[in-house]
Amino acid sequence: MLTGFEHAEDAGVYKITEDIALVQTLDFFTPTVDDPYTFGQIAATNALNDVYAMGGKPVTAMNIVCFPIKTMDMAVLREVLRGGLDKMREAGVLLVGGHSVEDNEIKYGLSVTGVIHPDKVLFNRGAKPGDSLILTKPLGTGVVSTALKAGYADPQLVQKAVSSMTTLNKKTSELMIAHGNIHACTDITGFGFLGHACEMIEDSNVGLKINSAAVPIFAGVRKLMETGYVPGGLYRNKNYRISQIEKADTCPAWILDVLFDPQTAGGLFFSISAAEAQSLIEKMHRDGIADAAIVGEVVSDNPGKIVVY
Ligand code: CO
Ligand code: CO
Repeated sequence: MLTGFEHAEDAGVYKITEDIALVQTLDFFTPTVDDPYTFGQIAATNALNDVYAMGGKPVTAMNIVCFPIKTMDMAVLREVLRGGLDKMREAGVLLVGGHSVEDNEIKYGLSVTGVIHPDKVLFNRGAKPGDSLILTKPLGTGVVSTALKAGYADPQLVQKAVSSMTTLNKKTSELMIAHGNIHACTDITGFGFLGHACEMIEDSNVGLKINSAAVPIFAGVRKLMETGYVPGGLYRNKNYRISQIEKADTCPAWILDVLFDPQTAGGLFFSISAAEAQSLIEKMHRDGIADAAIVGEVVSDNPGKIVVY
């Protein structure tokens, strides 16, 4: 086993031969949007992205379904599964099975198996002092989903968030791997940007400095937060990690909160040699990963802590 439970990695990695290791992950959840087809796409994207976060190539997947068969039309389930299947096709992944149970609430996701060369696994640890930190998608999907549930969200903003949540990190991961000099990588999901950033440096001898002004955030998220659309998970994430965070006065309070917003199918967050960061960002922008940005650096002077300025 190359990695398992101990460091909150995105997937388990098990070496089979000198050339091949398995990458295994499982993710499923309740709907974050109303449209069943879109929900299926989002859930599948979210699950597949954990393989990309390890630098792996997803190969096969199995559906995990909970469905209220007595109260909900089967057509809803068909649409959810169709959304998932379309994302698997886009990822070049074969659906090989699955399991469904009756439940009060619909839940959907995937168990994904991928492959990787055992020497090329990207762990969430390994960031080196002086590295640049890159985030590839904007933050705020948790806030937008919360406003959407309350029937209060600008359709244009919802569309942007949905399009981000249904974008596989496939191309991002391929560009990152081809560019090289990546020292640590994860994807941003339920624990929020700072939650996953903390996992990267826990019990390590490095710290992070995050430039709040450089972090991509969906336009309109600030207004939704000020109106009160803040997911409960944001506060749970913040309470859990705030002791590891040092906020400078230059970072506005609302941005610190967004940095804890639980994300669905968020972007990759990785550490790369500083000299290589700008050229990779330019490649990503050219390839349509428009929001990718250098958001901070790895430092040696505050191990295990994150300064947000
Ligand atoms: Co992950
Ligand atoms: Co996961």
